[in-house]
Amino acid sequence: MRLIFLGAPGAGKGTIAAAAGKEHGIPPVSTGDLFREAVKNGTELGRQVKGIMERGELVPDELTVALVRERFRSPDTAAGFILDGFPRTIPQAEALDSFQSIDAVINFLVGDDVVVRRLSGRRVCRNCGAIYHVENMPPRKEGVCDRCGGELYIRDDDRIDSIRNRLRVYREQTAPLVDYYRRRGLLHDIDSAKSVEDTLLQLRPLLRKLKAG
Ligand code: AP5
Ligand code: MG
Repeated sequence: MRLIFLGAPGAGKGTIAAAAGKEHGIPPVSTGDLFREAVKNGTELGRQVKGIMERGELVPDELTVALVRERFRSPDTAAGFILDGFPRTIPQAEALDSFQSIDAVINFLVGDDVVVRRLSGRRVCRNCGAIYHVENMPPRKEGVCDRCGGELYIRDDDRIDSIRNRLRVYREQTAPLVDYYRRRGLLHDIDSAKSVEDTLLQLRPLLRKLKAG
């Protein structure tokens, strides 16, 4: 299963990719996570993208496509993957088409008010990347990851000005991909304003069908 998760910031792509990836034994590939890793490690790429990410703008297409191409060299993606947050522009989608085929694109639908509430309360594990929410998905112990005991932090781009900018960037640069993939017959809408379990309930039959071919 070669999947793309498409949707606004805070739609729940990362949360559902982690759960569905585990259920189906395929790795989530999040360009946002890969960029954050580069920032954390202080690499040249990290230095280039840090400010862009904090402002909620998009990293240039060449850098992003090169990163994904590199990630696909790793053998764990051979049996399938969930691309989370890539592609995000038409040129990125065209570049992807040139080196990788896709079975389905899941379009996560959610309103801006829900996005703002979700992102304002998000906490992420600095060590393993697990995603929490102070109200919707609180960790057992405040500030500490249930999975690995790592420290939970607030992403630099989860400030209200950056959230608003990310929503604008999504509408202008990423939303055109909805039509791009609908025209190709690959798009499946899901209502992701629902709970995590209800979102997974919509996704499961779809993935079963894909798996059965
Ligand atoms: P990226 O990391 O991809 O951020 P994003 O698209 O803004 O999406 P998020 O990760 O914020 O949201 P999500 O949909 O994963 O939601 P989550 O599951 O965490 O990108 C960050 C930056 O990197 C970009 O701004 C850009 O600068 C750069 N970048 C990345 N990819 C790029 C590309 N292709 N091209 C150029 N630049 C790129 O959930 C959010 C919160 O809600 C959590 O707290 C969670 O617990 C909670 N939650 C989730 N689902 C539910 C639910 N069903 N019910 C209640 N709460 C829920
Ligand atoms: Mg995410």
